[in-house]
Amino acid sequence: MVRLSYMKGLGAIRAVVPIVLFSTGTIFFAMTECAAATVHDNKLAAATASSTTVVTAAAHSAASAQTTADTQTGNIPQSVSSTCMACHGMTGISPQGAMFPDLAGQWAPYLVKQLDNFRSHTRADPMAKAIMWGMAASLTPAQVQHVADYYSKQVPAKGKMINPKLAAAGKKIFEGGISTTHVPACMACHGPTGLGDPPLFPRLAGQRQAYVVLQLNYFKKGLRTNDPHAIMRYVASRLSEAQITELASYVRSLPGDSNE
Ligand code: HEC
Ligand code: HEC
Repeated sequence: MVRLSYMKGLGAIRAVVPIVLFSTGTIFFAMTECAAATVHDNKLAAATASSTTVVTAAAHSAASAQTTADTQTGNIPQSVSSTCMACHGMTGISPQGAMFPDLAGQWAPYLVKQLDNFRSHTRADPMAKAIMWGMAASLTPAQVQHVADYYSKQVPAKGKMINPKLAAAGKKIFEGGISTTHVPACMACHGPTGLGDPPLFPRLAGQRQAYVVLQLNYFKKGLRTNDPHAIMRYVASRLSEAQITELASYVRSLPGDSNE
């Protein structure tokens, strides 16, 4: 069954490739976005610095105290209760919000891939480098699997409608793409209601708006490069800042049904 959806995943990726070949005209479009992106970068950097310093300091000392045995406290992996919970919460709902992603209900194979990518420095965007490289470094492969299984089984975030107007605009792109700029419908890979499709395609439903904005910008600027076949770099490079906000607002509004 896993194998079947993997094949389906590759099929979806292949479907996008011809669009890439026919869209060299959009390179100019991508380049004109650079100036706006620089301004946005500064805003991101300022927001990131102020909200992460305190938690990062606390969690770094907890991370160094992590044991390799990862003995369980009840059902909860020890690395979660000693470290990860500071930013992702004990049940995968981040107490910080903002650019700290919720992990509850995310597919285990996707979580394993991300943790492996942090450990091998394949996911090398600024927040990954600043925080998650250190957090993931001391995890053993068994702990990675254990933590991923644990967070994937937690009840996902309910989703939150913050701005119905923005979310409605985002829904249009999510479901129908944008033909003029060759943006494929997000739902082709992330599912009609953002529940994702393991092992490749992550759940987006209910995810934090600021985190989604951050990741789409990282893909757009080529700062996050761990997406298979550069799929998300292709998609995000064709989105404007306004469209990214609309999509993130819609994603946040989606109710995240349990994947169990
Ligand atoms: C100090 C805060 C902090 C701590 C502690 C922390 N994380 Fe993270 N985590 C983050 C941030 C910030 C990101 C987003 C990174 C980025 O933008 O690339 C993240 C991203 C992730 C992701 C990727 C999520 C996605 O949707 O792609 C996973 C998986 C993850 N963390 C797991 C863990 C685990 C497991 C632990 C404990 C061993 C942990 N984190 C500890 C802050 C933290
Ligand atoms: C052809 C398939 C495909 C399409 C279409 C697609 N995505 Fe993705 N997306 C992926 C894959 C694969 C990943 C996982 C990348 C990785 O392994 O790190 C991903 C990751 C993401 C992430 C990061 C999730 C996280 O937790 O860090 C976001 C956000 C995202 N996609 C949003 C979108 C949006 C919005 C659209 C539509 C504009 C879209 N995607 C269209 C395949 C796709």
